[in-house]
Amino acid sequence: MSKPKVLVTRRWPEAVEAKLKELYDVTLNESDTPMTGAAMRQALLDYDAVCPTVSDKVDAAVLDVTNPRCKIMGSYGVGYSHIDTEAAKKAGIVVTNTPEVLSDCTADLAITLMLMAARRAGEGEREVRAGQWTGWRPTHMIGTKVSGGVFGVLGFGRIGREAAKRAHGGFGMKVIYFDPFPVKPELAAETKAEKRDTIEEVLREADVVSLHMPGGKENYHLINAERLKLMKPTAILVNTARGEVVDAKALSAALKAGTIKGAGLDVFEGEPKIDPSLFECENAVLLPHLGSATQSTREAMGWRVLENLQAFFAGQPPRDRVA
Ligand code: DGY
Repeated sequence: MSKPKVLVTRRWPEAVEAKLKELYDVTLNESDTPMTGAAMRQALLDYDAVCPTVSDKVDAAVLDVTNPRCKIMGSYGVGYSHIDTEAAKKAGIVVTNTPEVLSDCTADLAITLMLMAARRAGEGEREVRAGQWTGWRPTHMIGTKVSGGVFGVLGFGRIGREAAKRAHGGFGMKVIYFDPFPVKPELAAETKAEKRDTIEEVLREADVVSLHMPGGKENYHLINAERLKLMKPTAILVNTARGEVVDAKALSAALKAGTIKGAGLDVFEGEPKIDPSLFECENAVLLPHLGSATQSTREAMGWRVLENLQAFFAGQPPRDRVA
């Protein structure tokens, strides 16, 4: 029997690419250049499996194919708002993601951003590198103490809870959260997390607000000018979820006006483009979507896609089916 034809849209960790070569008739993207929508659409007709990642836009236009050869899209990443899952269902394509394996590293990065923004680490580094540091003095680059503060989590799923564990266990922070879905009491108990009934309550009470909800239409610009005004002027906003959850222009206006103290952002609407107004904010820490970017996690994500493909081609339900 011939091996399934698999297309991988970007470079993956070497070990995973090697295994894919062993198991499948695989086409790798050696040049690591993003694929166009037209090429992705064609791939759905030519391959049994297509493995996109979070930076590939797989929208209704791409998925508007009749009788695609592709029956599974093994997406590399936990978020899947880049894929129109309804259109995938209509086209008869199963979609899987890679949950769990990146929760630790993404939570670590949320804490990195919290500390960088609160302690002005980006500003400090820029000052040192520019040769502008004139020495220690009591009033120099004063930041905000996070230890003992209130850590507000919007979206208390796996990554949100891991971030809460770090904030609570590492920095003695009180955890409050909002999640539209019920959270098992034993999971909230891990950090003595207190539920709030609305996003607004979390925004008003938290010293740090960390975003962990999915992207896509349902949470588009959830953090807007009105909601930013509810936050404390001393508060920090952290986004490791999806860029579109935050209205970037409203955020930069809030950062400039002192409506909030700082922000730590790893994700951006329309990335890799970044709203230029954010570059004008010294009190914004900007990272290039590094949440899951560690060797072991990026490999684990690849293995998880592989596991899903193997189950699918063996006629079993893939573990991480999302559509
Ligand atoms: C994801 O997996 O959704 C992250 O944004 C990239 O690791």
